Amino acid sequence: MMPDLIIRPENAGDHSAIRSLIIEVFTEAFDPNLSLVATIEERVVGQIFFCPVRFQHHPEVRAAALAPMSVHRNFQKRGIGSKLARQGLSHCTHRGYAAVFTQGDPGYYSRLGFELLGPKGVTTPFRSQYDMVLELAPGALDGVRGPLQYPDAYDPFIEQATPHQNTKKSL
Ligand SMILES: CC(C)(COP(=O)(O)OP(=O)(O)OC[C@H]1O[C@@H](n2cnc3c(N)ncnc32)[C@H](O)[C@@H]1OP(=O)(O)O)[C@@H](O)C(=O)NCCC(=O)NCCS
Repeated sequence: MMPDLIIRPENAGDHSAIRSLIIEVFTEAFDPNLSLVATIEERVVGQIFFCPVRFQHHPEVRAAALAPMSVHRNFQKRGIGSKLARQGLSHCTHRGYAAVFTQGDPGYYSRLGFELLGPKGVTTPFRSQYDMVLELAPGALDGVRGPLQYPDAYDPFIEQATPHQNTKKSL
């Protein structure tokens, strides 16, 4: 029999266990080269995470999703988020990714070169008006069409964003 389960708010002492758990559960999606942290005097003040995603009809074209990015509120508006994003995007370019997708505020991500996905022929499982894309080389997505697939570990987030759709069937 399973011992009693306790659900409680997380605290600072849980952070390292939470990180290990996320890495374990998201192993398929996790690439340490695409997960960056920003530190000041050895304290982590920002992070950015990219995960590989794939085009259902174009498996040869490599793409990544920019997933959570955050900067500690005491350190925001000092260019840390932009530096994290630019370095992460540069890593993606050097690792052969053709494009990066994200769902976010166009006001912020357009500064980094992203544009709204709009009717470009590629669809993300989020099907969000905030779907954005950055081609890492001019024309990198020319001729690329169809659904973009995220690793299975993202299913709960996709289902949360699209509660009335069966995302697996719609791919
Ligand atoms: C978004 C975030 C990562 C930016 O980090 P940052 O280090 O403050 O970013 P930068 O210093 O490079 O850029 C700050 C600029 O972006 C603007 N900005 C921040 N969030 C914005 C948003 N959602 N929409 C438009 N502009 C935004 C700021 O107003 C600031 O503008 P200014 O330079 O004209 O003053 C940070 O604000 C954050 O952690 N927010 C909460 C989590 C979040 O929303 N993450 C993104 C989605 S996962």
